[in-house]
Amino acid sequence: MQQLYPEPGPVDQPTLIDLYAPPPEPAVRVNFVASLDGAGTLDGRSAGLSGPQDKRVFGILRMHCDALLVGAGTVRDEGYRALRLDEDRRRWRLEHGLSEYPTLVIVSGRADLDPAQPALADAPVRPIVVTTATADTDALPADIIRAGDEHVDLTAAVRQLRERGFAQILSEGGPTLFGYLTARGLVDELCLTVAPLLAGPGAGRITAGPPHDTPEHLTLRHALLADGQLLLRYGR
Ligand SMILES: NC(=O)c1ccc[n+]([C@@H]2O[C@H](COP(=O)([O-])OP(=O)(O)OC[C@H]3O[C@@H](n4cnc5c(N)ncnc54)[C@H](OP(=O)(O)O)[C@@H]3O)[C@@H](O)[C@H]2O)c1
Repeated sequence: MQQLYPEPGPVDQPTLIDLYAPPPEPAVRVNFVASLDGAGTLDGRSAGLSGPQDKRVFGILRMHCDALLVGAGTVRDEGYRALRLDEDRRRWRLEHGLSEYPTLVIVSGRADLDPAQPALADAPVRPIVVTTATADTDALPADIIRAGDEHVDLTAAVRQLRERGFAQILSEGGPTLFGYLTARGLVDELCLTVAPLLAGPGAGRITAGPPHDTPEHLTLRHALLADGQLLLRYGR
């Protein structure tokens, strides 16, 4: 892996971990992979766009976060597994003052989640479901945060997560959740892998949901190149 910007040069594993260190203040960081022509999925999943180097960064981002925020659509479509980390990553977290595992936080307006789904049922730490005021959550093996009536009020939800001590929030999508986070001005960082692929028409983008007409400028923090993939970190 090579760094292209700001300083060109090779990137080893300790450097890569440092390059993705979260900012000192509490932040919401979003991670996505997209094709060159803007597709967020290939055959309905993100896996075909990813690759070993993207997965490497994906793992480092998980290692750095307190809470992993994900939309119910991604949990359902991608068959999300329990949020487990290998022994090295768990040890690294403990050595750096973090909990052994991040907490999985699923956003679902309808709380329409299968309690037997491995992400919930096999979770090493009790997950959190963020939902609306009236959704029925009785069957869910999770702590519940209620924020908003018709849709989840993500500003209130992030505030409640911070009150519970989750300073660094990583979102792995999906597009609808990203769209709502963007519309609420909650995105502090985007880590985007650009896969060297033309997916062709059909797939959606990495953002979705109600239109939002105030574009926000982010600043490039670094650009890495590995196996033809660009690994970009943008922040406020
Ligand atoms: N390229 C990538 O890196 C990447 C990453 C992740 C996912 N994906 C792809 O994205 C697709 C899924 O897209 P998606 O847009 O359905 O995913 P999503 O954003 O994960 O899930 C959407 C669902 O999340 C809940 N939700 C999100 N924000 C909400 C809000 N503010 N209020 C209430 N509910 C909210 C709703 O759940 P309920 O319906 O339960 O109310 C909604 O239906 C999959 O094909 C997946 O493979 C790609």
